[in-house]
Amino acid sequence: MTESATKLEFGGKTHASTAKLELDGKNYEFKVRSGSVGPDVIDIGSLYNTTGAFTYDPGFTSTASCESAITFIDGDAGILLHRGYPIDQLAEHGDFLEVCYLLLYGELPTKAQKDDFDYRVTRHTMVHEQMSRFFTGFRRDAHPMAVMCGVVGALSAFYHDSTDISDPYQRMVASMRLIAKMPTIAAMAYKYHIGQPFIYPKNELNFAANFLHMCFAVPCEEYKINPVLARAMERIFILHADHEQNASTSTVRLAGSSGANPFACIAAGIACLWGPAHGGANEAALNMLGEIGHVDNIPEYIARAKDKNDPFRLMGFGHRVYKNYDPRAKIMQKTAHEVLGELGIKDDPLLDIAMELEKIALTDSYFIEKKLYPNVDFYSGITLKALGFPTTMFTVLFAVARTVGWIAQWKEMIEDPHQKIGRPRQLYTGAPERDYVPIAKR
Ligand code: SDX
Repeated sequence: MTESATKLEFGGKTHASTAKLELDGKNYEFKVRSGSVGPDVIDIGSLYNTTGAFTYDPGFTSTASCESAITFIDGDAGILLHRGYPIDQLAEHGDFLEVCYLLLYGELPTKAQKDDFDYRVTRHTMVHEQMSRFFTGFRRDAHPMAVMCGVVGALSAFYHDSTDISDPYQRMVASMRLIAKMPTIAAMAYKYHIGQPFIYPKNELNFAANFLHMCFAVPCEEYKINPVLARAMERIFILHADHEQNASTSTVRLAGSSGANPFACIAAGIACLWGPAHGGANEAALNMLGEIGHVDNIPEYIARAKDKNDPFRLMGFGHRVYKNYDPRAKIMQKTAHEVLGELGIKDDPLLDIAMELEKIALTDSYFIEKKLYPNVDFYSGITLKALGFPTTMFTVLFAVARTVGWIAQWKEMIEDPHQKIGRPRQLYTGAPERDYVPIAKR
């Protein structure tokens, strides 16, 4: 099977217009499409009907599942853009609801648009009072991510009036409800976990400050918001808001393609995010630093990470797309130092281990050859621990932030006139057809 492509010059770049495929002595031609930036795609939608063959790409390492205008990642250059804006500029200058607006509607909001959006989201932060009884079905020591999967999935039972995905108004209401209620539910999951009373949202607080208040305030005394910590929390939410077609976003898109209601789709995304290879890596990375225990033990763990017979991996290192530094990791590292400094934590042993581990790993030929750099999860755990969260809450915070990304991608898919239910095919390697054998003859 050989491939060649006819090249066209435009936009200062040579673009293939078609790709040729030779299979079993026959020649086929497929259209090549170019995006605004990034790799071209070969449109193989007609491949099976014209050649009788499927493509095979189990981890979707070379497969574009959709067309999207929301987020662009250049893994080699370590670039992350949301609607064209670099993540470092958004993290530096924006607030989380501003980034939510940008992801949902494609442009940075005017002052009037921002005020209206903030007002609408803020007034959806309370949950139906009956939901508080829903938590009592869980054991106190249930992992907060298990609670999130259950409670968010149950939102469709409480807010059935915004589940008709064919109605743009209901889609908008469901989106506002999800963005607004996720921090409240996450804080309730935390309070339930530690046996403290739920704290209601306060409308005068911004997104991150409100979340910190709902998590750390107690009825017995006034909770004072530390602006440095609130800003750090806001930045952490911005860094985790969206990341093109990662595993959990692809899960949300696939669930949404069947017409499932948005609450069920987001619950599916939460379940996928929980995996240690994905959003669960921030919890796993901090647990790993704790297991390493001292900088003197780092060489042993580096050796284990390189050992093919040892399933151990350096959690918080490596990425499917970033083959250079994850731009979010740099900002997370800076935020970690800011938070530790503000809290007067001079020598955090975990941070010392993380810095030393990063230094050693980045000079080790194994990590250099395999292009394994720290990702967003490497420093987030240290920061979240310093902010007062237990490790079991780390992926919950990731889910709170990523909800807007899941919603924006789900909205883009639903509004795509060409979208259809996702239904991958397979390479079948099982038994060919055979007749049933009665048990007496087996
Ligand atoms: C997130 O996709 C996204 O955008 C995700 C995310 C988002 O914002 O949504 O960015 C969030 O999930 C970040 C990633 C968090 N996960 C971790 O930190 C877990 C540790 N990392 C690995 O499990 C791994 O790097 C992945 C899952 C992140 C990526 O795996 P790939 O792209 O499938 O790469 P691979 O597993 O094929 O690894 C390539 C090679 C392998 O060696 P060989 O088989 O080629 O000899 O690199 C090795 C791996 O063994 N390798 C590691 C390693 N990661 C990969 N070796 C040691 N430690 C690691 N962390």
